[in-house]
Amino acid sequence: MTVVGPFGLNMQDEALNADVRDGMAAVEEALLDATKSDVPFITVTAQHLLEAGGKRFRPLLVLLAAQFGDPNAPGVVPAAVVVELTHLATLYHDDVMDEAGVRRGAPSANARWDNSVAILTGDFLFSRASQVLADLGPEAVRVQAEAFERLVTGQILETAGPRQGSDPVQHYLDVISGKTGSLIAVSGRMGAMLAGADERTVEILTEYGERIGTAFQLADDVLDIASDGHESGKTPGTDLREGVPTLPVLLLRAMPADPADPDDARLRELLDGDLGDDTRHAEALRLLRGHPALERARRETLRYAYEARDLLAQLPQCPARSALEGLCDAVAVRTM
Ligand code: IPE
Ligand code: IPE
Ligand code: MG
Ligand code: MG
Repeated sequence: MTVVGPFGLNMQDEALNADVRDGMAAVEEALLDATKSDVPFITVTAQHLLEAGGKRFRPLLVLLAAQFGDPNAPGVVPAAVVVELTHLATLYHDDVMDEAGVRRGAPSANARWDNSVAILTGDFLFSRASQVLADLGPEAVRVQAEAFERLVTGQILETAGPRQGSDPVQHYLDVISGKTGSLIAVSGRMGAMLAGADERTVEILTEYGERIGTAFQLADDVLDIASDGHESGKTPGTDLREGVPTLPVLLLRAMPADPADPDDARLRELLDGDLGDDTRHAEALRLLRGHPALERARRETLRYAYEARDLLAQLPQCPARSALEGLCDAVAVRTM
């Protein structure tokens, strides 16, 4: 019994295990290669977060999806590199947007250098992702470009907030499927597509990626409240501080106030005010951790993860399918 991946994902099948382990090693090497520049300073800034860690969830998904075709097809590892580089670039930019100081347990690029360095390093990584992508053919370029548009649109919609009169929960779901579901869906799609899987399999794995990607972001948003930051390598409470209402807060606002619970009233008051103040922020975070809305958000996360898992019933039973099923449970209850 061997454990592969950061999710405690058990891949008991020896052949699958070896394939994924070798694939991930090849991805890692190619990532290091793709982040080297002739300018030494750029290599340092580009490799800063790469070397800090990260779960490599998207490349793992590419490799597992590729099992439904020829997993050794030449485009599979480069496709995994493209999605991880794209993801990495968005982290550099996201930390500027969120004024985050810590990422993958290391200082964020904006904290270690400044916003300009972080933004330009993100751009550099996008350009390198494009160079790898160019060799994968026009269909892969189109798929990636469309997902990238959705990702950026999600980030902008989050910043803009819901339009007046629109449903804030629907807005939130649109934001997370755009900013996170899009690239995770592409991971499923690219893996299957470049391995030469049939059209229907490609569609199922794309849809699976979209759902598990949404669950992945829901879990991230729960973790932003519930985690102490040790495992996540990020500063807890960043969403609250930045005034980004995620599902726990949105569900709380949709619940009737509990007159018997003074904590509930106090929390609502705090959430309606400025959480830039350290004391108010810490109190809000503490009260939210104990509020039933957080548990409801956890249940919603599980619901999306199970929806993703149910889609897999359409695929043939095989070790890769079992691994993808296991990934759903792991994503929903993850602690990092
Ligand atoms: C963080 O992604 C940003 C989200 C979309 C939630 P990950 O949780 O995959 O970050 P790393 O790659 O493991 O650092
Ligand atoms: C960021 O969402 C999603 C992308 C990077 C596209 P978050 O802001 O929730 O991600 P973290 O928590 O900083 O990783
Ligand atoms: Mg962020
Ligand atoms: Mg987050």
